[in-house]
Amino acid sequence: MIQPFIIGTRNAGAFLHAGAAILGQGGSALDAVEATTRLVEDNPEDTSVGTGGIPNLLGVPELDASIMCGRTLRSGAVGAIKGFKHPISVARRVLEECPHVLLVAEGAERFARMMGCEAGDLETETSRRVYRSFVADAFEHEGIDESQAWVVEYVRSQGLREWYARLADDHHGTVNVQAMDADGNVACAVSTSGTALKFPGRLGDSPIIGAGNYCDNRYGAAACTGRGELSMRASTARSLIHFLAEGLGVEAAARRAMKDVHALSSYGAMNCLLMDAHGNTVSATTVSGRESIHWFMDCHASEPQRRVGINVTP
Ligand code: GLY
Repeated sequence: MIQPFIIGTRNAGAFLHAGAAILGQGGSALDAVEATTRLVEDNPEDTSVGTGGIPNLLGVPELDASIMCGRTLRSGAVGAIKGFKHPISVARRVLEECPHVLLVAEGAERFARMMGCEAGDLETETSRRVYRSFVADAFEHEGIDESQAWVVEYVRSQGLREWYARLADDHHGTVNVQAMDADGNVACAVSTSGTALKFPGRLGDSPIIGAGNYCDNRYGAAACTGRGELSMRASTARSLIHFLAEGLGVEAAARRAMKDVHALSSYGAMNCLLMDAHGNTVSATTVSGRESIHWFMDCHASEPQRRVGINVTP
């Protein structure tokens, strides 16, 4: 019998205790991944998730999140939601209360208010400074035009596609958390502020079930970080689970999915986190030379264990 366990991306390592404690008390995988993800969303040092996430092109933080239950395949997701501290909990309420899977923007905010989810300011000194310095670099002055009309000028002068290609891959952070509980149920949570300085309204892969997040008790759980446009085009999370269902092990499945991303012949990095129903785990990156790591903690461990994943080059 597999001990209940929880895994997470690099930025979740320090917070796995919370989920492991829930699992150790007989709690559900869904509760464990939500609780751990909330702590990452609360971490102001993390500039790619929740509070402190670098804002969009207009200087507004827009958050994406999703959560999925491997027993029922029910899922909930929110995209481009503003002004709520824990998009993962709004996504959980979508899963529990809503007939839909994905709510975005004003609709997601309306739903979050209806559900009594916690509202709040997501900006930090660091996220404001990064935005101001971006504006200053782009326009060689310190002021931010209140009308934001400069964005139109900026986008025209750069060309949106060229500008997006030039954005560094370290502007794409996300948290992935996956768990298996004592009943063998699997859950997966993903949360992000998306690409730093993204075009307003841009959704990445994190709220798209099948792209950035997927799980199924029979096979395991899968999620992605990196340029969401890649995993949206390659249906990476669902593909990873499909490869497990076809009999591949976690490492072979991750290799195959990352090769599919390379086949897109596009710019940007993609990374995945994968666990199977037997408790095997792997992380993978398409970037050569970058260490792919994830954290593993079973419910009786005192500390999470650092695990090194694989690099998949073209
Ligand atoms: N993977 C996160 C994003 O592209 O928004």
